[in-house]
Amino acid sequence: MPKLIDKFGRQINYLRLSVTEHCNYRCFYCRDDEHTPNCKREDILSYEDIEKIVQLFAQLGITKVRLTGGEPLLRRGIAKIAKLISRIDGINDVPLSTNAHLLEKFAGKLYQNGINRVNISIDSLIPERFEKVTRGGDLSEVIKGIDAAIQTGMHPIKMNMVAMRGVNEDEIESMIDFAIDKGIDIRFIETMPIGSAGIEALTQHISKKDILAKINKHLNNQLTPIVSNKTAGPAHNFKIKGTNSTVGIISAVSNNFCQTCNRIRLTAKGDLILCLGQQDSISLRDAVRSDLTDNEIKSMIINAINKKPEKHEFNSVIDNISNRQMVEIGG
Ligand code: GTP
Ligand code: 5AD
Ligand code: SF4
Repeated sequence: MPKLIDKFGRQINYLRLSVTEHCNYRCFYCRDDEHTPNCKREDILSYEDIEKIVQLFAQLGITKVRLTGGEPLLRRGIAKIAKLISRIDGINDVPLSTNAHLLEKFAGKLYQNGINRVNISIDSLIPERFEKVTRGGDLSEVIKGIDAAIQTGMHPIKMNMVAMRGVNEDEIESMIDFAIDKGIDIRFIETMPIGSAGIEALTQHISKKDILAKINKHLNNQLTPIVSNKTAGPAHNFKIKGTNSTVGIISAVSNNFCQTCNRIRLTAKGDLILCLGQQDSISLRDAVRSDLTDNEIKSMIINAINKKPEKHEFNSVIDNISNRQMVEIGG
């Protein structure tokens, strides 16, 4: 099977597929207060478009397709999308990134339809604070969603907390205890300067070093580093001794992990984004709706992968990522 290898020798096997630009939350570091998605129904990839594009990617060596958004559970037919993707030859990992607000309702069906695991955003365990960060979110729904996912047997279940100074840094310890209690994983994420909301939130940035110091203090020699293979996710993970949980840190800003990047992104409108921190994209929606042959579209993809940038420029060229909202890219 042909492989997608970029000009820096990185093998691309992971597609992050956004299925909607809508979200029922408005996390302040992810989208501007006034941001509203600007898309007509026909702009968004249809089931047929998605199936076709993922089939072509699978033929090129993509094995993992993560469903993201916006909030993917807002997309009508999300269970159907899960099913059609997980049935495609060569795709063997179909995880979901969600805020879990609607997960209680969907978890069972999604698991049946091939979603084998979930990553859940949760930035606070204090209801009022949670509501403030998400500008209207309901922590009790999210916890019901987490419990429903655990019930299904999905594994692993990872929680993502964007750790922010003066916002939730005092909850790093309680979040770890919560993860241990539930028998699931927790990862702390450094704020990234994506879109104007992310750039503004940088003032609350906490570095991996500071997060790790807190984790170490709390767990007191209870950590065993997990040596992950080259193409694993961006997190630096540890097993917490005597528990079923792991703790990880995703540090895109203080500790760039681009040299092992194995992923590309497709927006809900079908734009193929080559790097989270760069502007370049090509429209695969237009390609699959045109009379191009499969081989011609695959050549387009291979050419695009050849242009995948070496790294993000979060630390130097802030302007180049300011006009896309994270909620549109899917994290
Ligand atoms: P796993 O497959 O479970 O390892 O998931 P993941 O970490 O790839 O996905 P998730 O949706 O949980 O993303 C967690 C955080 O990592 C989000 O804040 C993403 O924006 C960030 N992230 C994921 N991929 C990249 C990447 O290629 N570059 C950067 N800078 N951040 C990324
Ligand atoms: N910096 C870091 N992480 C972010 N996410 C959204 N915006 C940002 C940002 N500016 C995270 C969400 C979710 C994941 C998919 O992306 O919290 O866990
Ligand atoms: Fe929605 Fe997730 Fe962005 Fe929050 S971080 S606004 S839940 S997409």
